[in-house]
Amino acid sequence: MSVERHDNDIEIFVCSGPRTPFAKIDGPLARLDAVGLSVPVVQAAVRSLKASRSGPDCVIWGTVIPSLAVSNIAREVWFDAGLNPSVPALSVVQQCATSLAAATHAAAQMKAGRLELALCGGSESMSHTQIGLTRGMSQMLRRLAAGGGPAAALRAVGQLRLSDLGLSLPSVKERTTGLTMGDHAEIMAKQWNIDRESQDRHALASHQNSVAAWKRGFYNDLVIGSEAFPGVKRDTIPRPDTSLEKLAKLPPAFDRKSGKGTLTAGNSSPLTDGAAACWVATAAGLKGLEEPLYRARLIDWEVAAVDIDRDGLLMAPALAIPRNLARQGLGYRDIDLWEIHEAFAAQVLCTIAALNSRSWLRERAGVEAELGEVPVDRINPNGGSVALGHPFGATGARILSQTVKQLQETGGRALISICAAGGLGHVALLEAI
Ligand SMILES: CC(C)(COP(=O)(O)OP(=O)(O)OC[C@H]1O[C@@H](n2cnc3c(N)ncnc32)[C@H](O)[C@@H]1OP(=O)(O)O)[C@@H](O)C(=O)NCCC(=O)NCCS
Repeated sequence: MSVERHDNDIEIFVCSGPRTPFAKIDGPLARLDAVGLSVPVVQAAVRSLKASRSGPDCVIWGTVIPSLAVSNIAREVWFDAGLNPSVPALSVVQQCATSLAAATHAAAQMKAGRLELALCGGSESMSHTQIGLTRGMSQMLRRLAAGGGPAAALRAVGQLRLSDLGLSLPSVKERTTGLTMGDHAEIMAKQWNIDRESQDRHALASHQNSVAAWKRGFYNDLVIGSEAFPGVKRDTIPRPDTSLEKLAKLPPAFDRKSGKGTLTAGNSSPLTDGAAACWVATAAGLKGLEEPLYRARLIDWEVAAVDIDRDGLLMAPALAIPRNLARQGLGYRDIDLWEIHEAFAAQVLCTIAALNSRSWLRERAGVEAELGEVPVDRINPNGGSVALGHPFGATGARILSQTVKQLQETGGRALISICAAGGLGHVALLEAI
């Protein structure tokens, strides 16, 4: 259960920040690494600061795929952006929930009275994933680089074994199980009886909603365009031309052998490059930001973790959501906007099935309250990660920014839900001001 309470009277606000267009791995953003993608985003974000502010109190940034050259990416991005060096920088990682974790970490510090204004976000360049050497090869090269003469060099080379000659290839795998995220989502889909057609229908809606949102201009002032990223004005992944028929023809992407695989390239989020930012502020911090930025109040948040073998890798939001709502005395119908990260259409549908299950709520989430049925017509009205793409470190800030914009347009309350590798789930509740 939750160990944090967020009920003191310091109000927290989230304001929209800019993001890059999102593009598939090895696509039009491939020349930029995670720092390079972040720099124009951070530079665009700080243009919202009033002249009276020389910077935020803190920048909290994250990326998921490790880089050999960059450790505290928040600081490196700040340096490369050429901004006030006296702003402290912290990097966080919580896989797909990374930049939501950045925002709630800032909020917790604000509740403790330690910050007023923080720039939060993250980035991912799947196109720049580094390939590692084996431990033996790394050790040998390290010893060679340390010098010590020909004898030491010979000794180092002599210790090399045949098995040290391989490479350490990165993949989107869960370290403790050795299975990919997609393999795990297949297991969950089978546990919750989520069929292929339902997944394809959800994926189609994700594309249709993303395309419609772009068409009505919803993303125009959230996405920085061609000046910073020549030739890439908007997200390149949403497909106006996809259909149930086309989706149905795609082969299984993960469970290819059993004949029962239901996850495909069409109903999974693609490997994506991109960066995104948002602001977190107290009432005093808000005064440091120029209009017009979209804003909403952050009511509460919750982080949960599952037993991966028993509950399924990506099911933790189905613990965090009911716990958070129950603590606030809210039911599902009290939430007007549901922003659920779509790692896979199957994972969203499994989450909904669990949220609608009384026994799951009682036995797994420890929630006795009657929460109702999830109103599925309120989920991801502007598209989700299947269609928009999912640069791991950036997704949280992407969702926060578009949530506050949507809330400002329609009013009401929103729930953000992000599942993350490691069996983690991070959710946040916001309301229109
Ligand atoms: C699913 C996955 C393996 C697919 O990778 P891929 O095969 O390189 O995907 P592609 O984009 O090339 O798509 C494959 C095919 O499907 C087609 N396709 C994809 N989406 C489609 C759609 N919505 N409608 C119609 N066709 C579609 C593509 O056009 C392509 O067709 P082609 O082979 O004729 O060119 C990869 O995206 C992946 O690993 N995703 C999961 C990432 C992940 O685990 N994230 C973490 C979440 S926790």
